[in-house]
Amino acid sequence: MADLKAKLELPGNDAIELPVKQGTEGFDVIDISKLGSKGYFTFDPGFLATASCESAITYIDGDQGILLHRGYPIEQLAVESSYLELCYALLYGELPTKTQFDEFMSTVKAHTMVHEQLAFFFRGFRRDAHPMAMLCGVTGALSAFYQDSLDVNDARHREIAAYRLVSKMPTLAAMCYKYSIGQPFVYPRNDLSYAGNFLSMMFAVPCEEYKVNPIIERAMDRIFILHADHEQNASTSTVRLAGSSGANPFACIAAGIASLWGPAHGGANEACLRMLEEIGTVDRIPEFIERAKDKNDSFRLMGFGHRVYKNFDPRAKVMRETCHEVLSELKVNDPLLDVAMELERIALNDEYFISKKLYPNVDFYSGIIMKAIGIPTSMFTVIFALARTVGWISHWKEMLDQPGHKISRPRQLYTGEKSRDFVSIDKR
Ligand code: SDX
Repeated sequence: MADLKAKLELPGNDAIELPVKQGTEGFDVIDISKLGSKGYFTFDPGFLATASCESAITYIDGDQGILLHRGYPIEQLAVESSYLELCYALLYGELPTKTQFDEFMSTVKAHTMVHEQLAFFFRGFRRDAHPMAMLCGVTGALSAFYQDSLDVNDARHREIAAYRLVSKMPTLAAMCYKYSIGQPFVYPRNDLSYAGNFLSMMFAVPCEEYKVNPIIERAMDRIFILHADHEQNASTSTVRLAGSSGANPFACIAAGIASLWGPAHGGANEACLRMLEEIGTVDRIPEFIERAKDKNDSFRLMGFGHRVYKNFDPRAKVMRETCHEVLSELKVNDPLLDVAMELERIALNDEYFISKKLYPNVDFYSGIIMKAIGIPTSMFTVIFALARTVGWISHWKEMLDQPGHKISRPRQLYTGEKSRDFVSIDKR
């Protein structure tokens, strides 16, 4: 790589030369770590132009609408691969050979159960607790059960924690759902696929045999694939920040779940479906489009816009195709899809959305598919968290695998009071 430099002119005729680092794809970065020696910090609230780390897991090109996982385009992975195979690639860097995949799959299947005591945690929640509140709590609680693999400096412990989380998240997610509807928890079935087992734990009941519908199984697996990882998004950055202090992996993933819950992030799929339900009919779309443009109205079109994609989110394209496939194969005629399609058509032709490059994102269609396959709206973000767990733990593992990693500790622009003497209360 060429020895590139950036020269920064500073006030008072000062200047500094900063090294420029190049990656294999995408933007080069200016290493500003020495800027402190000149008495300056950079300032980038929201991190619009800040690379927080070096990573080889996922590459996004927001202008071209490109998403690669370990170099493989999401469009190919969604059709050719499976979620578990993608998990292996995200964790280990390469798609597995048949032998590697069989070993990985049997390891994942061997860890699908959770400690029986964990079931008692749910009893502390009201039945109407939001499933994300439950998932956040019980995921953090996992660290109380696995004292044997909490040494984050031990590579084998990190690998065991990764397996455990990929294996157990479907079990925990389904337990959140079952608890909220007052049905008994369903044990994992290791004779089923990853997606099939999740559907069984969600929808099976003890009093009758559960048969996995292959159409729904494939749609579920594809939803998992499309949500698996997405570079340094808010929740992944949360996991990395928590992990940089040496916190145990279960606590880090619980932090990621908490961050994902926000409606600007993973909570958008639930918010998007509720918005479509609120719009209700095609003739009410213009009213909501106007509200989305109104600076005095906090309303935003959920499922539209993205910090990075200033073109179509490639996942939304695959999700849109899957949405039509699933609804026609299941012979579901959902008026919300009509509203969604008309909303997309109007928004994509509206000057406001065109000028601000607001396209449908991954959350726009996922809610309609999940509703069609029987997932309740309150579980949408839980599904997102289930799928994203492998991305979170892959980034956590990558960070800790890198020698010399430090605790993340950003600085600030201080705009508070200058130093002043204390005044006792009788003189205030
Ligand atoms: C995910 O980072 C990731 O990769 C996330 C994710 C992942 O896989 O991890 O892709 C998953 O979180 C997808 C995004 C889901 N969120 C939503 O659908 C919620 C609705 N979208 C917005 O909240 C918003 O678009 C964000 C949060 C997604 C992006 O916000 P930015 O990049 O901070 O952009 P912004 O808020 O500064 O908006 C830029 C302009 C603003 O107008 P101006 O102030 O410039 O006049 O666009 C407007 C915004 O008002 N705008 C919208 C809008 N999104 C942005 N106006 C109406 N409806 C919207 N949805």
